[in-house]
Amino acid sequence: MDPFNLASAVVPVTGAASGIGLAVCRQLRARGARPLLLDLDPARLEAALQEVYPDLPDRARHGYPLDVSDSGAVDACFARIDAEHGGATHAVANAGTGMRANALEITDAQWERVLAVNLSGAMYFCRAAARRLVERKGGAIVVTASIAGLLARENSIGYASSKAAAINMTRALAIDLGPHGVRANAVAPGIIDTPMQQKNPPERVQAAAGRAVLGRLGSADEVASVIVFLLSDQASYVTGQAIVVDGGIMAKYA
Ligand code: NAI
Repeated sequence: MDPFNLASAVVPVTGAASGIGLAVCRQLRARGARPLLLDLDPARLEAALQEVYPDLPDRARHGYPLDVSDSGAVDACFARIDAEHGGATHAVANAGTGMRANALEITDAQWERVLAVNLSGAMYFCRAAARRLVERKGGAIVVTASIAGLLARENSIGYASSKAAAINMTRALAIDLGPHGVRANAVAPGIIDTPMQQKNPPERVQAAAGRAVLGRLGSADEVASVIVFLLSDQASYVTGQAIVVDGGIMAKYA
């Protein structure tokens, strides 16, 4: 038997049209699981479905346009997944938005949006998933946080606050779900080469990546493989953790 035991898994993944979420879907598919791609951006969603399910003529039924910050839309999406795929067995709350703003200048709208997506969106999604998994008495949830949730940097007041809260939200989730046999963990990626990072000036990205012990950017696949491990039975005694995937940035202070 495959020790990952994901072949019959039905796994909604948010932010699935790009970067880390897309890599998770590709890896889950390769293990025989059924990733469901949830994303804000319908055009990118279409291209991602083509990439994850190239051989499936009815691949469109594996994609769901969704803004995770809309609690009603999240619940409706899970109800559709119940009806169309027999319900989620695992879930990945990966959607996130970057936001650089100085503590002196951040606007209310910037603050509210980054928390609405990165914290409230993750909570709405995890809550809906948790209700299904608890009923099944099994499965696992992974939240994509960030090393910015463990330490802060300049212009990160909104993003870093949202990711720190997402990490503690995951711990609280794990505590409530543990008695039902359901696990919940976060990953905390460092500097990862995805479209989100590609929006930043290359010299700033290279300088940040140069701080890693491994001296380079990480790839979306290098984060996705840890997320898939945490979803799988290989991680059956791991819950309530934030696993750092940063090439060693957090290992040194100078
Ligand atoms: P990305 O920009 O390549 O992908 C993010 C995806 O999330 C996009 O497809 C976007 O349409 C979707 N999305 C954004 N807001 C959404 C919403 N409200 N509802 C549904 N979907 C939404 O970014 P990447 O790098 O793959 O990011 C994935 C996660 O990893 C995010 O939570 C991000 O904060 C986190 N992360 C990324 C790092 C990096 O260096 N790339 C480092 C640490 C954490």
